[in-house]
Amino acid sequence: MCYDGGNEELGRPAAGQGSPSRRAFSRLLLAGTGLAALSACTPAQPYTPSGTPGPTPTPGIGSATPTAAATASNPPVPASAAAQPSTQPAPQSPGTASAIPPSAAHPPSAAAPGPQHSLSDPTSPWVIVNKHRPLSPATFVPPDLVRPTLRLATSGEAALLNSTTAAAAEKMFAAAAAEGVIITLASGYRSFTTQRTTYGSYVNSRGRAEADTASARPGYSEHQTGWAFDIGDGSGADAFTPQFKDRPAAIWAKANAHRFGFVVRYPWMLHEITGYFYEPWHLRFIGIEAATDMSTRGIGTLEEYFGLEAAPAYL
Ligand code: DAL
Ligand code: ZN
Repeated sequence: MCYDGGNEELGRPAAGQGSPSRRAFSRLLLAGTGLAALSACTPAQPYTPSGTPGPTPTPGIGSATPTAAATASNPPVPASAAAQPSTQPAPQSPGTASAIPPSAAHPPSAAAPGPQHSLSDPTSPWVIVNKHRPLSPATFVPPDLVRPTLRLATSGEAALLNSTTAAAAEKMFAAAAAEGVIITLASGYRSFTTQRTTYGSYVNSRGRAEADTASARPGYSEHQTGWAFDIGDGSGADAFTPQFKDRPAAIWAKANAHRFGFVVRYPWMLHEITGYFYEPWHLRFIGIEAATDMSTRGIGTLEEYFGLEAAPAYL
């Protein structure tokens, strides 16, 4: 067990109360969990520069600088704070920016395979939305929202995706099903207004600092772009919990999502780059060529892949 509880995109430690890692570690020892659990929590080998160039947005279109109460559309907010994975340090305090550590820095460079896309246009499959890069306009609404033919674990607005993402998700879910793995759509599109409610629920239950490790502020969520969604397992088990990573849907998605153009956007232990703790359920469409390129090269984050600065906290 890597965490000791929690739920949805909320399942995080209290911030500003010392080291969540240490506290979680102490809890593990007290519980007699032992080294086996710690070993099981060891993240994959971190990305190290290979010298292989990364993509560069097409000049002129890429604007990046290289360097509530639970409802069908609002992910549930757990009643109590969840623990952090035992070895995962908390992100920096909100408002503190940092550069990607040299060991994890990804040199920006030549083009990714395939067509190039804007990093700032929210209709672009490469739009980068993080704590340094809010959506513009903040109240953006995808012009092509559709209701995909997928097994749904949600309804209403949250069952929508943009048309490209919907088509790719349909192929991916079907491929998984053909291998006996049932994936559900747990949370798709969220409007600015919905994200404000969702984030507000996190803040109300855990405080702002902790909310910021799990839920994007309105205008800063990939869910608002239509390019991202959260998956569930066909069993319904462990939805939005840390344990979800061990469910068939999560295991399958981690191994295969790139073949359909998706990446696990918030990987284990890369929160100092992405700004969010591990979310094995949150998938983001960037296109098959780029997603496969990232997978092949072992690059974990879009920030590294596109040569952008780390975004651990809001500016
Ligand atoms: N949980 C992700 C970061 C979001 O709120 O968009
Ligand atoms: Zn998500």
